[in-house]
Amino acid sequence: MVKILPSLLASDFTRLGQEIEDMETAGADIFHLDIMDGQFVPNISFGLPVVKAISEHASIPVDVHLMTNQPEQFIPEFKEMEVDMVSFHIEATQHPHRVMQLIQKNGMRAGIALNPHTPVQSIKHLLPEIDFVLIMTVNPGFGGQSFIGSCADKIGELNDMRSSGRFDFDIEVDGGIDHETAAICRRRGADLFVSGSYLFQSVNPRQAILEMKG
Ligand code: DX5
Ligand code: ZN
Repeated sequence: MVKILPSLLASDFTRLGQEIEDMETAGADIFHLDIMDGQFVPNISFGLPVVKAISEHASIPVDVHLMTNQPEQFIPEFKEMEVDMVSFHIEATQHPHRVMQLIQKNGMRAGIALNPHTPVQSIKHLLPEIDFVLIMTVNPGFGGQSFIGSCADKIGELNDMRSSGRFDFDIEVDGGIDHETAAICRRRGADLFVSGSYLFQSVNPRQAILEMKG
C-alpha cells in the first residue's frame, strides 16, 4: 500500500510541533527523520533529543533514516523513543546483516538504504529477512536536490526480485520526490514515498499527498 512520509528536515524547525500536526491533518502516514553525522555524509542534521521530542509529539509512526557511520550505535535508544522503523546505509557498515538483526531484535522494522551507485544485487541475500529497502533517488545529505532518473530503474529491478522471491519487504524512495517523480516510482513498484521540500513548500499539502498517492 502506498504511504507518504514527510521528511521533517524540510520543516520549519522554529515551529516543529505545528508542522507535525499540520502534516498529520493533511493525511501523512509516517514521519521520516534524517540523522546525519557529518562523516558518512557532508552535513549534520539533528540528534537524539530532537528525535525523542518528535516521536513524543507525533501520533503517526516514525521512520529514522541513519546517514551515519556505525549505524549500530543508539538502536536501543530508538526503541526507547518508540521509533517504528530504522534504516541504515549498506555503504556504512561491514556487517549489514548484524545491524538488521539488532534493529529487529529491538522490535523495530529494519531497512537498508542504497546510495545511487549501489546495485540492488548487493543486498540480494538479505532480501528474505529485510523489512524494507530505501532506494536513494538523490545523493544523501541534503534536501531539495533533483531526482536522479537512473535510480528509478533500480526500483523496477528490486520489485522483480521481490515478486520472483515472493518476499514481502516494502520499497521506499527518498530524494526529489514530487507528484511527477512519485508517479515514475509508483509505476515501478515503490510503496513508501519520502517527500521533503516539495511537500513542505506545497500550499495545499493534503492535495499534494493525494496526488503522490496516485
Ligand atoms: C536526503 C534525505 C531526504 C531529504 C529529502 O539526504 O535523506 O530524506 O530530506 O528531501 P527532498 O524531498 O527535498 O529531496
Ligand atoms: Zn531520508
